[in-house]
Amino acid sequence: MKSILVTGGCGFIGSHTCLSLLEKGYYLFVVDSCVNSSDQVLRKLKNLSIINFKLKYLKGDLRDISFLRRVFEEAKKCNKPISSVIHFAGLKSISESIRYPLEYWDNNVIGSINLFKIMEEFSCRTIVFSSSACIYGLTNQTFINEECEVKPTNPYGQTKVTIEKILKDLFVNSLSEWKILCLRYFNPVGAHHSGEIGEDPIGVPNNLFPYISQVAIKRRKELDVFGSDWKTIDGTGVRDYIHIMDLAEAHLAALEYLFDKKKNFLVLNIGTGIGTSVLELVKIFEKTNNCKIPYKLKMRRTGDVGSVIADNKKALAILNWSPKRNLEDICKDGWNWQKNNPYGFQK
Ligand code: NAD
Ligand code: WQD
Repeated sequence: MKSILVTGGCGFIGSHTCLSLLEKGYYLFVVDSCVNSSDQVLRKLKNLSIINFKLKYLKGDLRDISFLRRVFEEAKKCNKPISSVIHFAGLKSISESIRYPLEYWDNNVIGSINLFKIMEEFSCRTIVFSSSACIYGLTNQTFINEECEVKPTNPYGQTKVTIEKILKDLFVNSLSEWKILCLRYFNPVGAHHSGEIGEDPIGVPNNLFPYISQVAIKRRKELDVFGSDWKTIDGTGVRDYIHIMDLAEAHLAALEYLFDKKKNFLVLNIGTGIGTSVLELVKIFEKTNNCKIPYKLKMRRTGDVGSVIADNKKALAILNWSPKRNLEDICKDGWNWQKNNPYGFQK
């Protein structure tokens, strides 16, 4: 079975994807600096995949190119040369990126360039890259497709566009054949149904779903709903929430799609194509989990938009994949994780 390098494999999306890959029998090398995660997650992955736990964790930072070289060398030495990479590692907070732009350019872009250099050095040219829906500019279209204008409004989004461009350059200009898939995720939420792994934000959550979960577990008093005057069903912001395991499975599909190809560069939206407002999500969470989420309507959050929903037709047509879980599954599984682990991986 092929060996896959998963950068950022201890993080939210990376850890769930590792589980899907392990279940399929892949041998994994996980590289993570744990700047925004805990390697405790690996213990949970081991428990969840008793038979197929073929994973080697190497703690380190992508900005350290000699560390990366050692990872590829080690894989070669133990006769498990890395055939492809799923590249999650990066910093992801929009607000933090506005405050610390250099940190974001350095971490995300320099880290990625190092990775691509070492991949080239070891003739490993298959990669699935984590991009984001936040790179799209404002549009009046209800559904955002891959042809919509790319015009990010913050340094985080700029770093994602830049990495996509570097990958495109490699595809177009490199003498060797690169196989590249950039996945633009919409809003990944929820947790593995076991309640063993899930999202574990450090500090106050920026995102809606972990905030709701922390209100439910009473770590936070109430939810601030940012804006109730958008042109949406109930005035609150509408987003495309995708179950984390559906997203994990999209990575598996993306990787296996690339295996069959010769030379490839593709960007795909990964979402459900279904829009849900903040208050709709609150109601579904309350109903599914029989709990109360107190909330207050507040001013709009700076930089927010009213509605962001994926046109996911291209991904459905190209990958042998479609999202299978609904909002009730998201709320049930997300709550299962939160109530079993009120303080995430720490306790
Ligand atoms: P996360 O923070 O949970 O995971 C990212 C992981 O990368 C963390 O474990 C972190 O420690 C690690 N990391 C960061 N910089 C590193 C470096 N230089 N070297 C080694 N490890 C490093 O985030 P996530 O939600 O799992 O997101 C994964 C990827 O998907 C990120 O690139 C993010 O930008 C992208 N993305 C996330 C979302 C989302 O809503 N979660 C949406 C769109 C795109
Ligand atoms: C969803 C809705 C908020 C928190 C961001 C990035 C995106 C991706 C995912 C990385 C909005 C409202 C939120 C709260 C609220 N990340 N909200 N109270 O902004 O769609 O996407 O995270 O790539 O790129 O932009 O997600 O979960 O922050 O917000 O009312 O406490 O919930 O205003 O309408 P967003 P979100």
